[in-house]
Amino acid sequence: MPASNHLSTGKFLLTFLLMHILLITEVSSSCQCIGYEPLIINVQASQLTASGSHHAALKPWCSKSNMIGWSAEYTGVCDKSIYGYWIEVDFLENKLLAGIVTWGRATKGDKWQNYDQFVKSFHLEFLVDKSTEWTNVTENGTTVMFTANTNRRDAILNTFSESLLARKVRLYPFKCSSRVTLRWEFIGYSKYSFPLVRQGFAPPGLALCGLDPRKCFRWSRIPIRVQWSGFRTRKNVTRLSLHGRSIACDRRHVTVGMEKNCTQCAANEVRYDLCAIEGTSEDGQCQVVCRMRENQVGQPINLTLMVNGDEHTELCAIDSDASLTIATPGRTLINDWPSFLEKIRDVY
Ligand SMILES: *[C@@H]1O[C@H](CO)[C@@H](O)[C@H](O)[C@H]1NC(C)=O
Ligand SMILES: *[C@@H]1O[C@H](CO)[C@@H](O)[C@H](O)[C@H]1NC(C)=O
Ligand SMILES: *[C@@H]1O[C@H](CO)[C@@H](O)[C@H](O)[C@H]1NC(C)=O
Ligand SMILES: *[C@@H]1O[C@H](CO)[C@@H](O)[C@H](O)[C@H]1NC(C)=O
Ligand SMILES: *[C@@H]1O[C@H](CO)[C@@H](O)[C@H](O)[C@H]1NC(C)=O
Repeated sequence: MPASNHLSTGKFLLTFLLMHILLITEVSSSCQCIGYEPLIINVQASQLTASGSHHAALKPWCSKSNMIGWSAEYTGVCDKSIYGYWIEVDFLENKLLAGIVTWGRATKGDKWQNYDQFVKSFHLEFLVDKSTEWTNVTENGTTVMFTANTNRRDAILNTFSESLLARKVRLYPFKCSSRVTLRWEFIGYSKYSFPLVRQGFAPPGLALCGLDPRKCFRWSRIPIRVQWSGFRTRKNVTRLSLHGRSIACDRRHVTVGMEKNCTQCAANEVRYDLCAIEGTSEDGQCQVVCRMRENQVGQPINLTLMVNGDEHTELCAIDSDASLTIATPGRTLINDWPSFLEKIRDVY
């Protein structure tokens, strides 16, 4: 057994949920995101609504980054905190969101110099498809008050500590400067790879990629077989953690193989490099360490997982340390918006 490499997984660890138990409607994250895209720029005007607007030229649909901005119907000046004003986007289906970008009023239009308006902080509420209950974006159990703009021009990105699954999101401005005017954008997942569970011989294949919540995998026909095509990592050593119950974390019960590119193999023969099964960690997860070949780093890899056990064995999720985030967690100033979008389009 090779000595384990203690990789720092904490900070950038994204959870790839195979299946997971949802206690509430919030889904933390799923899948391996390998590309991101801006979402609001592509929605129809009818998908943007608000509590009201201050002016006919500053309607909700003007909140796109290439427009002038939405201005709330608030008529006061920004000398105190405000409540109850909001702008909403309806993506029409659940989307996985990695972060939000805000700007102040664009430096265009008639007498634009007179309108130095922006939002300094806000909170977000969201709604999952088919739910009627708005939920605050929280961290450690408290509503996150995002620190936004300090001038009208800069793009400020706030990444979410856990990716957010939502159909609708509402932004509630809290502090503003001059007037409650903003433009906004959400960074959504556009490309991902995800593990698929095969059930028996008629595999419809079940995946969780921002879809409906499902339960852990547990059924009498052991082993549980998972196919993860297109997994990517920039590391030469990648750690996977299997979450579940009654998983005997040894080579006899758990097999993880990386498909080999085998030129001498027969037509439908597949060979694998095996990953090392390291045993159960203190928090009860089965630790797997995969050593990539040089030509696999950054390239799509096909993984096969097999979990053997008894009728109590369940597989709920697979964590990996291979994800890349769009920015350091928290608030970031984006200097060059077009090149930022280009950079995150495909992070591998
Ligand atoms: C969200 O948090 C804000 C600020 O703490 C609070 O005013 C609001 O009622 C909360 N909304 C929901 C849906 O819990
Ligand atoms: C939440 O808790 C973590 C760990 O204790 C901490 O690093 C983080 O700053 C906290 N976030 C907020 C918004 O308080
Ligand atoms: C793996 O990557 C680390 C740092 O990223 C490097 O130091 C090490 O030499 C690499 N190992 C192999 C076998 O390529
Ligand atoms: C497999 O290897 C061959 C030769 O080394 C290469 O041309 C081909 O692109 C590889 N295929 C994959 C899927 O990596
Ligand atoms: C992964 O599997 C797909 C089919 O599922 C195949 O087309 C592809 O060549 C495989 N890639 C590698 C690197 O084995």
